[in-house]
Amino acid sequence: MNQESGGSHGGLPSGAERARLVREMFDRIAGRYELLNKIMTAGLNRIWNRKVIRASGLRPGDRALDLACGTGSLTRDLAGKVGERGRVLGVDFSREMLAAAKRRPAPNVEYRLGDATELEGVESGSFEAATIAYGARNIPDLDALFGEMARAVVPGGRVVCLEIARPGSRIPALFYGMWFDRVVPWIGARVSGDAWAYSYLPCSVKEFVAPEVLSEIMRRNGLRHVRWQRLAGGIITLHSGTKR
Ligand SMILES: C[S@@+](CC[C@H](N)C(=O)[O-])C[C@H]1O[C@@H](n2cnc3c(N)ncnc32)[C@H](O)[C@@H]1O
Repeated sequence: MNQESGGSHGGLPSGAERARLVREMFDRIAGRYELLNKIMTAGLNRIWNRKVIRASGLRPGDRALDLACGTGSLTRDLAGKVGERGRVLGVDFSREMLAAAKRRPAPNVEYRLGDATELEGVESGSFEAATIAYGARNIPDLDALFGEMARAVVPGGRVVCLEIARPGSRIPALFYGMWFDRVVPWIGARVSGDAWAYSYLPCSVKEFVAPEVLSEIMRRNGLRHVRWQRLAGGIITLHSGTKR
């Protein structure tokens, strides 16, 4: 996509237009997504996945819902945790991201095309935990997202959100400015061939709500004991809450 079709990133569109741009962007970069993710997180994404799993409270035999599952990086790690007696449903609205996920199938994982803000065919209270990693930032209607996550889990079940954030302190902020505003768009454009996608990334992080606001959104959508922490010097946040 070029700047004419996608627009500049200042003031990203919302609603259906934003969803279309995001879906088309992930369709285009699906083939290179995991490689780029590994490069850009220096391989730390698997460690952060483990933190998500710990926060989810999942145990062998449980059922997990992974929204905006993309190519299935977290989904597969969740499947490893719940084991062969458990099951994981991964939902994403990008056909190409899901196609990449399905190339690495697991017997206890189902992938489904769908919108995280309007989960069709997902019964209320049918999962012990619902997770989303690097997805919330792409979804303008966070009330709809967390409303659906809370609806999908059993009372006492956990909702966990991992996201890229603006760092709180000055030193990581300097590093962050270098890395996300310059290095990431540069590497992303070269490896994926899609300059728009990897300049969208830092813009979407800048536009995303502050961690305290995200906590409040989770609370008002039926979650209690909402906690959050910063990881990786502040550039990643991990939120979790428990369904009432
Ligand atoms: C940055 S990727 C994250 C993929 C994966 N969770 C991971 O850990 O690598 C964001 C994903 O969110 C998906 N997405 C964005 N908005 C969505 C929505 N409303 N419903 C479902 N998927 C959505 C995109 O298609 C994309 O695959």
